[in-house]
Amino acid sequence: MTAARTIRLAPSILGSDFAALGAGIAAIERGGADLIHVDVMDGHFVPNITIGPPVVRSISKVARVPLDVHLMIEEPDRYIEDFVRAGAAMISVHAEVLLHLHRTVQLIKSLGAKAGVAINPATPVSVLEEIAHDLDHVLVMSVNPGFGGQTFIPRTESKLKAVRALLDGQGNAAPIEVDGGVDLTNLAQVMAAGASIIVVGNAIFGSGDPEAATREFCAAVRDIESGIRTQHAGEVHR
Ligand code: DX5
Ligand code: ZN
Repeated sequence: MTAARTIRLAPSILGSDFAALGAGIAAIERGGADLIHVDVMDGHFVPNITIGPPVVRSISKVARVPLDVHLMIEEPDRYIEDFVRAGAAMISVHAEVLLHLHRTVQLIKSLGAKAGVAINPATPVSVLEEIAHDLDHVLVMSVNPGFGGQTFIPRTESKLKAVRALLDGQGNAAPIEVDGGVDLTNLAQVMAAGASIIVVGNAIFGSGDPEAATREFCAAVRDIESGIRTQHAGEVHR
């Protein structure tokens, strides 16, 4: 029997063909996607513009797995309710744009969605200290937000470990999401560092066969996970 995965794979539709979004979503779901990562960009917080609540609503009508909505926008408070009503199950907001992070996190939760805070590569983990116990997840950016297909920033590994230590120290088992430049060469590294929601954009949608690529990632996650489990069991018995 194959062990169930506790690590979730969240393909990012940023690199998909937006004219054939439904087919792209069906493909990653057939391949075993656990979540659909939706990148919302406003052309202000990041130098790129993507989609808004109407497209999220259309996606939610065809998606069979939950929508993980990453808001790379200024003034997210103005739009959070629209995104939740459009079908977002998880919402991540960026710490860099929020003066009242606590209020925003409570707003997301009050609407019934899972609340997460995202931090850019140059943002210190310490910004999460006073909010960590309230979070349903943390999103660690492993590239500068704005575009798919960028190269993974190696320093992310120590950052993932620091976020895990912070959450654990506050008794919060919330998952950490890693986002940007993840491929089959660094997957094991981010998982070992504590990431348990893996966002993958270009390595899936840039592959030519998103279904097969998703399946390959799911198999790799399973293999790495069983290796990590064996390693931990060894540590306990030593
Ligand atoms: C970057 C986005 C990411 C990105 C992931 O701003 O938040 O979700 O699309 O795509 P890859 O895996 O191509 O970096
Ligand atoms: Zn993202």
